[in-house]
Amino acid sequence: MRKINLINACLLFVFCFSGHITLTAQESDAIEDEINQIIAQLTLEEKVAMCHAQSKFSSKGVPRLGIPELWMSDGPHGVRAEVNWDDWGYSMWTNDSITAFPALTALASTFSKGLSYEYGKAIGEEARYRNKDVLLGPGVNIYRTPLNGRNFEYMGEDPYLASELVVPYIKGVQENGVAACVKHFVVNNQELWRDHINVEVSDRALNEIYFPAFKAAVEEGNVWSVMSAYNQLRGQYCSHNEFLVNEVLKKKWNFDGVLITDWGAAHDSKQAALYGLDIEMGTGTNGLTYSEVNHYENYYMAGPMKELVRKGEVPEEVVDEKVRRILRLMYRTTLDKTRPFGSVNSKEHQMVARRVAAEGIVLLKNEGKLLPLDINKKQKIAVIGENATRMMTKGGGSSELKPKYEISPLEGLKNRLPDHEITYAMGYSSGRAQYGKVLPPAFDQEELKKEALETVKDADVVIFYGGLNKNHEQDCEGGDRLSYKLPFGQEDLINDLAKVNKNIVVVLISGNAVEMQWEKNARAVLQGWYLGSEGGNALADVIVGDVNPSGKLPFTFPMKLEDNSAHHFGEMSYPGDSINQEYKDDILVGYRWHDTKKIKPKYAFGYGLSYTDFLIMNVTLNKKTFNRQETIIASCDVKNIGELEGKEVVQFYVEKVKSKVMRAKKELKAFGKVELKKGETQEVKGEVDVLSLRYYDEEMKDWVLEPGDYLLHVGNSSDNIRKSIKFSIVEQIE
Ligand code: BGC
Repeated sequence: MRKINLINACLLFVFCFSGHITLTAQESDAIEDEINQIIAQLTLEEKVAMCHAQSKFSSKGVPRLGIPELWMSDGPHGVRAEVNWDDWGYSMWTNDSITAFPALTALASTFSKGLSYEYGKAIGEEARYRNKDVLLGPGVNIYRTPLNGRNFEYMGEDPYLASELVVPYIKGVQENGVAACVKHFVVNNQELWRDHINVEVSDRALNEIYFPAFKAAVEEGNVWSVMSAYNQLRGQYCSHNEFLVNEVLKKKWNFDGVLITDWGAAHDSKQAALYGLDIEMGTGTNGLTYSEVNHYENYYMAGPMKELVRKGEVPEEVVDEKVRRILRLMYRTTLDKTRPFGSVNSKEHQMVARRVAAEGIVLLKNEGKLLPLDINKKQKIAVIGENATRMMTKGGGSSELKPKYEISPLEGLKNRLPDHEITYAMGYSSGRAQYGKVLPPAFDQEELKKEALETVKDADVVIFYGGLNKNHEQDCEGGDRLSYKLPFGQEDLINDLAKVNKNIVVVLISGNAVEMQWEKNARAVLQGWYLGSEGGNALADVIVGDVNPSGKLPFTFPMKLEDNSAHHFGEMSYPGDSINQEYKDDILVGYRWHDTKKIKPKYAFGYGLSYTDFLIMNVTLNKKTFNRQETIIASCDVKNIGELEGKEVVQFYVEKVKSKVMRAKKELKAFGKVELKKGETQEVKGEVDVLSLRYYDEEMKDWVLEPGDYLLHVGNSSDNIRKSIKFSIVEQIE
């Protein structure tokens, strides 16, 4: 047998195997041949060792053949600081600080595929510079309930929006020879009991709501790795779920990459072997908590899997297939000697972070045009709220970052307005962020409130930076929020501040919707997300009008929690009984529910104001009747009729008129974003493949296109439709 010299093999294939180059069938075959020849030289021990962790974030290579280790890192918003070999402590390196990019909810709010690509490229460059082969992100679990502690890491409630945005992110990352790892596959839509809860959900909801972003990541983004969810689906853990992994991911979607567990999410050696898991990562042998001597050797996919092969219960080819996928991943990443070297903390990356942050901010309310602040007038600005100064890259769980810098909202405002009088009072406080634990605040809340009321007394304008934070039971991994309300006494505080000063701007820093009964007491409200290194500058950009806000909500803000569909159906629907949970809301998630059931939201999906005004007009369709092979092309003109330059997102929704099955009132099928000068008009087009109008039929286990009448709705939010046009689908037309 020919001994492969890996270095030569790599050089041979680098040109054709890096992410941005499409391979010919012949080239791929040649690579697969090489991989098979490598596998033939590996012992069972060596193969098995490649299938599980050797440290917190790495798995073994085969040094005698020059097969390198594989190194991974969190997470979706920046490359995590170095973690110790075998505990969760940080390694205290001095060269691992990075750019913190805005959380994915902010990226989703931009409705910009271009920005998603830039984001992916920049974070991929940082991962590459830090010598990571796999970046553990992006996250595309669907926003089902505002209580989910990790919504901030995901792209909102709409499967189409998440699919459109996940693909360019992945491409940007992978162009660096770094694998994206789309997570958490699937229905990890809450943190409570995530390590074991069994989700029962219909095939239809899986296919129409929870799968699409993962499917797009695989089929269109060609993602090189996927992370399984902790929870179970229909009685089997997602990491080794026969239906999910073998049938859907690997067979139906043709995924040729590596399925990696979430950390400690494997539970059974035989299932892991047979049902498609490729690499087991994790903490201790029992998954989540403890480590013992030699525990890596005791992983489900280590010694025990080897034993199963030895006993003949698992064919060795099953392990070969895992190794084949891992080697394929290596050829695409660590073995690609032409991959670029990457860079970290560059001006370019910081500017990507700032642009995404500024474009993701959503203006929810602006009574009497309080914003942008009139900075030509010397204003006395009172800044209130803990979030004006709090580091939001700290806490939150695995997405925690060690940024080179993080501009706080207060700092950003002071940078931008050095000559204005800006005073600050904290107003309320919460405890320090600690994983899995709520710590008490260090300050007396009454004293803080007194000071704040004093501070706002003679201010021209009050900017209140509040919302949630990255503490346990706020926006944080490992637990859900306990309440939909603003925490830490903020609601009372805002109401009391309004008694003293009417000119209040509230900036919500959060990755989730909150109840907003206090909103009548704020003249302006901005949704400010977690915006990363450049957060404070980006917020100042919008507050003073350097950037005209154009962000649109990627999820609905219900008036009250019970208005959300997951909660409407009671405890078994959310959070379940701690063992099982049933997604009774089915396909009616987010705006699909609110629209269909006519439940008015506080703020609708797709909603967001601007400092200027737009007119959507001249809506047309290319035809009136379509068949299944065709594409519907809708177009409209958007005119900027206000005083300032700005950007608008036109949204194209489709409704089936009189469907024979239950359907959402309407679904987003296309969107387009334009930048318009004052008085300017531009055309925006939305292209909708007729096949994307199908629903998933449970009995046929297939997609069905219903002939008949449909409506195309064009607007600038899901509840602000400017024009609807009827069209029909026929089976065949001459
Ligand atoms: C999280 C993953 C993360 C992993 C490694 C898990 O607890 O759910 O998203 O990538 O830890 O830190």
